Amino acid sequence: MPQKYAAGNWKMNGLVSDLTDVLEIDAGVEGLTCKTIICLPATLIYAADGDPRQTVEIGGQYCHPAISGAHTGDVSAEMLAEAGATYVITGHSERRTDHGETDADVRAQTEAAWRAGLTAILCIGETLAQREAGETLAVLTDQLKGSLPEGATPENTIIAYEPVWAIGTGKVATPDQVAEVHDALRAQAGADMSLLYGGSVKAANAAELFALTNVDGALVGGASLKAADFVPIAQALAAS
Ligand code: 13P
Repeated sequence: MPQKYAAGNWKMNGLVSDLTDVLEIDAGVEGLTCKTIICLPATLIYAADGDPRQTVEIGGQYCHPAISGAHTGDVSAEMLAEAGATYVITGHSERRTDHGETDADVRAQTEAAWRAGLTAILCIGETLAQREAGETLAVLTDQLKGSLPEGATPENTIIAYEPVWAIGTGKVATPDQVAEVHDALRAQAGADMSLLYGGSVKAANAAELFALTNVDGALVGGASLKAADFVPIAQALAAS
């Protein structure tokens, strides 16, 4: 059975003073049967590591393929791991768009994550134009083939399906749309790989997504910033 994950992605949000929200989330998810991860801005990971958390694990949002070197502004997987991360997002569509990251880049980042002992949360997703052109499954199959390295296991990799048009727009994919994609991903990625959905997940729509056979959790942006929004999502997952 795939592991269930309630994962948050704080994106470029949060100062040290906001880490109280991670502690509130930690208190709220204690005892739930799912795992809970919060992917923080790199600047907050070390500070969060010193906090007395019981349950919530910490992730980064990106890693450079190299261990170190002349890459101004970048961060390596080893740096994230030393700071206290155990997970890292790779291939988020905002990175693919804002920084031109290709499938080959994402593959190299994912290998770097494994090298540092991190579990990669590898993101794929189609644009609205690709969906409207009927290309969704072909695009996703290609993205996964191109960005998932040989050697992926349920321990070192989690796959997140995040339709680009559903991220931060309030337009959540319908259960039918999510089911179609996740059923195809299950066939491609194997029976035990955790498959998360991301894109405008809120407490109000979480339960119907988690009821789908091949949805093993969520990668949550905006609704992960506050415990009052995120804890009910994790509770809905644990109850599913
Ligand atoms: P929202 O939940 O804000 O739509 O963001 C989703 C996302 O991109 C998570 O990685």
